[in-house]
Formats: sequence, C-alpha cells, structure tokens
Amino acid sequence: MVQQAVNQNAIQPPANLLEQIQLARIEERYSDIAELIPEENRGKVFHELLFPTIITIRDIENQKDSNKEWMSQILKWRDIDKEGIKRSNSLGWHSRINMHTREEFIPMGQQFLLQATEVGRRMGLDESAEPVIVSMWANVSPYGATNRHHTHPGTFLSLAYYVQAPPGCGKICFTDPRAEANVLIPPFAMDKPRATEALHEVFYDPIPGRCVMFPSWLGHDVLPNLTQMQGDDGLRISVSANIFFTVRIGKGKMPVKSGHDPMGLLTRDGEIIKGKGILDL
Ligand SMILES: [Fe+2]
Repeated sequence: MVQQAVNQNAIQPPANLLEQIQLARIEERYSDIAELIPEENRGKVFHELLFPTIITIRDIENQKDSNKEWMSQILKWRDIDKEGIKRSNSLGWHSRINMHTREEFIPMGQQFLLQATEVGRRMGLDESAEPVIVSMWANVSPYGATNRHHTHPGTFLSLAYYVQAPPGCGKICFTDPRAEANVLIPPFAMDKPRATEALHEVFYDPIPGRCVMFPSWLGHDVLPNLTQMQGDDGLRISVSANIFFTVRIGKGKMPVKSGHDPMGLLTRDGEIIKGKGILDL
C-alpha cells in the first residue's frame, strides 16, 4: 500500500477540518482540499522527510557482567575454531554464523530480538509478526583489523553489538544508500551541523553494551582498529546478527523463508526452530 501522506501533512489543518479533508482526499475532490487549506498556511514552506532509514540504538542492562562473560566465551570459541570464516573481515577473526544456536549466547540473541520487536512496532508491522534470528556471529579484531564495505542480503534487520571496544578501535560507518544523492553535493555550511537527512555517511561509536540495529540493505564498513591498548584489552569484540520477521498462523506454525541456513532460528522465547523452508500451515 502506498500511503499518501504528503498533502495532509503539508497543510497541517486545524483539527476541525481534518475530517472534511480526509473525506475530500478519499473522494479525490482536489479543488475542495484547496478550499480547506487555512489562509494562514499559504505562503509557508512545509518540509517532509520521506524514505528515511531507521537506525535503532539500545544499551542493554547489566552490560559489564554480561559482556565479561560473553567475551570469555567468544575467546574460548576462537581458540577452538582458530580459522573461523571469511566474510567482510580483514585480519580479524570471524566466527561461524550459528552463534544464536549456542546455549551460552541465547540470552544475547534474545536482547536483540527485544529491540527488533520495537523496530517492527515503529514500522507498523502486523501484530503477529515475530522477529527471529537466522544467523549470528562474533568478530574479534586485533590491531589493524577492519571490515570492508558490505550489506547483509536476504534478511530485514542486521545489527552490531559491542562486547569490548578499546579507545580508537574503529567506528562503524553507514553510507547513504541513495547513489543519486551523492552525484552533486550543494555547498553545506562548514560552521554548523548538517541536517541528519542531508548526511551522506554517518559514524557510530562502538560503545560496550550498545546494539546498533539497521536495515540489512544499508551499506556499512568498520574502520581499522588503531588502539594503543595491548593484548586482549586491545581487541575490538563485536557481535552481529541477521533478523527475519515471520508471521504465526494457526497454532504455532511459523512460515519461514526458505534458503536460510537449516541450523535453526532463534525466537524471542529462546526456542530454536529448525529451518525447514516453508513449514506446512
Ligand atoms: Fe555487517
């Protein structure tokens, strides 16, 4: 459904005119709408921000204790599976992507799903839509390690969560997905902040305990870890996950998108559902 919010918002009609304007819009009586625009609104400029990108921030409770425990589990995992896998990581260790099915990390995944639920609400998803984690992994980045520019195809939401972030360990950078918006850049003032909707790249600090959630299609990269801290204290440790929204139909039947890894999906209840493509409804 395409929402036609422009006319209604731009004229900002007094409450007593709203109903008449709604009706006129439904019946497409455009001349009547023109008559209803209050005289004091004429000549003014109204801005609207359409096609925005929702980036959500959440700082988890009790981050110090949780992160201490998770860091030790992640480093243990790295010591057992030294090679890990190669994705966007350069120099750093990238775990396998089944982190959400490992018991010790299920509470972490559930934190992400709480946040995803809020994103779904903000977007106006169907009441029955439920977020599930389809993949989750850890990145352990020593000095010099970076992540190249990439997106996360095939899911709705992705995230970066920070377990340990020493000073100078590298910010995450999001880039404007509208290629055309970068073709010609107008002369922005150098001495005042640019409007957020006019930014072409945005850097976020890696704050321990913070989860930055974003649409999976949004391009991003991570700057190199240039910390001066030594040993394990100098490691940048982060976790990422991909989240899909499913819809419950009937008694607990959950259709899932086929093609996801059959290692399983983590639900908000901490349950792991084995991915079998589209389940019988
Ligand atoms: Fe990523």
